[in-house]
Amino acid sequence: MIEHIKFCEDHLKILDQTLLPHEKKYIECRDTKTLIEAIKSLRIRGAPALGITGAYGVVIAALESKTEKEFIEKVEKIKNARPTAVNLSWGVEKVLNSVNSFKSIEKMIQIAKNIHEEDIQKNREIGKNGSILIRDGFRILTHCNAGALATGGYGTALGIIRAAFEEKKDIMVFVDETRPLCQGSRLTAWELKEENIPCTLITDSTAGFLMQKQKIDIVITGADRIAMNGDTANKIGTYTLSVLAKENNIPFYIAAPLSTFDPCSNTGKDIKIEYRDEKEVLYLYGKKVAADVPALNPAFDITPARYISGIITEKGIVYPPYEKNIKGILK
Ligand code: MRU
Repeated sequence: MIEHIKFCEDHLKILDQTLLPHEKKYIECRDTKTLIEAIKSLRIRGAPALGITGAYGVVIAALESKTEKEFIEKVEKIKNARPTAVNLSWGVEKVLNSVNSFKSIEKMIQIAKNIHEEDIQKNREIGKNGSILIRDGFRILTHCNAGALATGGYGTALGIIRAAFEEKKDIMVFVDETRPLCQGSRLTAWELKEENIPCTLITDSTAGFLMQKQKIDIVITGADRIAMNGDTANKIGTYTLSVLAKENNIPFYIAAPLSTFDPCSNTGKDIKIEYRDEKEVLYLYGKKVAADVPALNPAFDITPARYISGIITEKGIVYPPYEKNIKGILK
C-alpha cells in the first residue's frame, strides 16, 4: 500500500495528491508555512489523514519555535487550516495534551507515530466490521475519496471495499467523480485500479439514475465530522446521495473512526462548513470551463441522521437511535 505520509527525522514527507494520478511527487514540509499550504491546497486531505498531519504538524511547529508563545501561535494556525474535518484539531490536541513543554520533541514524535499506526489499524477494523454488509454481487456507490490516501492507510469507506474484495466477494464499485476537485475520478479510481478492484467511474449526476434503475445495492461514504445526534458532514453531494438512497430504498452507510465524532457538535447545525475558492468550480486543470459568472463552492454538506442506515466504526456499527448509541460507543 502507498506510503503517502512519512515523518523523516525533522520533516514530514507528503505525497502531493493534487498531482495524482498523473504524477507521484512528494513534498517535504520542514516548516509550518509549507505544511499549512499543503493542507489548504489539498496536497494532503481526508479527515483521518488531516488528523495525522496535524499531529506531525505539532512536531514541526516545536522544531521551528524558539518560545512557547511562538509554538502555540503556529499550532493554532495548523488547527485552523481547514475548519470542517474535526480530526485535524483532534490530532493536534492529542499530541499537545500528552506533553508539558514544546521542547519534548521525542515524545511528540512518538505520539504522532502512534496516532498514524493506530489509524491504519482502526481502518482495518472498520473494514472488517463493514464488509459484513457487502454481499456477493453487490454494486457499491462511493463518493469523494475515503481511501488509503485520506487516512493513515487502507481507508474507511474504501477499507470496507478492500476488505470485501480480500474476502473474494464479487463486487463492482461505482465511483462518483466528485466535482469540483475530482477526488473520486483522480484518487478513488486510482486506488481501486492499483488493487484491481472492479470499478466504474460516473459523473456525480449519474448516481440518481443508477439508483432509480436498482443498479446500486449500498452507498458507503466517509465523514469529516459527526455530530452527537448522528448528523454527518462529508464531501459536498453526500446529502444528495443520502436522500436519493432513501427514496430508492438503498441502504446508506457512513464509515469513520471514533476520532471523527465531535462531542462539541450536538447537531449538524453546529458544524462549520468550509467554502473554497470559486476558481475550483470555474476551472479544471487550469483551463476555464465556465462562462464569466461567479461560482459558489461549499466543500461539504450535512447529511441528516435520519438518512443514515448506520455508522461503521472500529468498534462496530452504530445504528439509530443515534443520540443514545453514539454516547454508548464513545464511552
Ligand atoms: O476536501 P477533502 O478531499 O478533504 O474531503 C474529504 C472527504 O470528504 C472524505 O470523504 C472524508 O474526509 C472522509 S476520508 C476517510
